[in-house]
Order: sequence, then C-alpha cells, then structure tokens
Amino acid sequence: MLSQSLLKELNEQIKHEFASANYYVAMAAYFADLGLDGFKNFFLVQADEERFHAMKFFNYVDELGGRVAITGYDDPKNDFASIEEVFQLALKHEEFVTERIHKLLDVAKQENHHPTISFLQWFVDEQVEEEATMQGVLDKLKLAGSSGPGVLFLDSELGARTFTPPAE
Ligand code: FEO
Repeated sequence: MLSQSLLKELNEQIKHEFASANYYVAMAAYFADLGLDGFKNFFLVQADEERFHAMKFFNYVDELGGRVAITGYDDPKNDFASIEEVFQLALKHEEFVTERIHKLLDVAKQENHHPTISFLQWFVDEQVEEEATMQGVLDKLKLAGSSGPGVLFLDSELGARTFTPPAE
C-alpha cells in the first residue's frame, strides 16, 4: 500500500525517467548529424537504460497496487555548441535525477515505508554509476580534445557500449 504522497512522487519519477530517455535520444540525434556513430550509440544505450528505469518504477508501483499515471514533459534541448556541452548537460541532468531519488528516499523514510526504502537503494547505487559514466567521458574528452583523432578514438570506444538489463 502506497500513501498518496509517495504515489505522487513515484509517478513523478516515472515522468523524469521517460523525460531522461527523450533528452538522451535528442543528444543521440545531434551526434547522428555529426556522423559520430559511437557517441550516438552511447546516448541511445543511455536512453534504453532510462526506459528501463521508468519501467522499474512502473512495475514497482503496480506491484504495490498503486495507480500509475503517465504525464507529459518539456521538449528536450536539440541544439548543442560542442561535444563537451552535451556531456556537461548530461552530467548536470544526472545530478538532478540523483537529487530526485534522494528526495523520494526522504519521503519514504518520513513515512517509514520499508519496501520503498529498500526498492530505492538500487537507484541510489545506480545514480553513483550514472554520474561516474558521464564524468568519465568528460575526463576523456579533456584528454582527447574536441576534434581530431582523439575524438574518433573515443567515438569507436563509445560505439561498443551495449545495454543489458540487469538481472532482477
Ligand atoms: Fe535514470 Fe540516468 O537516471
């Protein structure tokens, strides 16, 4: 059983996870346009992860007998000044999602709702990874520079990223 306030926050999070997927597909489109297929792949895989996150919340709410409600979100940004800007924004976005997860956890703790506290732990850990992934590429971009062979090397590395849904 979920309280109205917890249900509202969980539904809000489903929206943010789907919005994140949209956000990253728009970034993938930017790289597709530049002909950087590895970067494009990186963000398409990221979008797959976000849809997985959204459905993980969906299934959790449903399992507890809550009513999932899907709501809309704002247009994602489609134009970027540079590769670095994309990753800076992606990192900033992940920091925002981390804050959201922590806020959700605070609500669950205030209500002493143990199933949700336990459920959210996976997302707390996942967000550490999500931020590290974006920061990692930013660090490499600093070394590689924003054009030339370094970027092509990174493009080929990011092209190898795949999405494997974690075992439940
Ligand atoms: Fe679902 Fe990238 O956080």
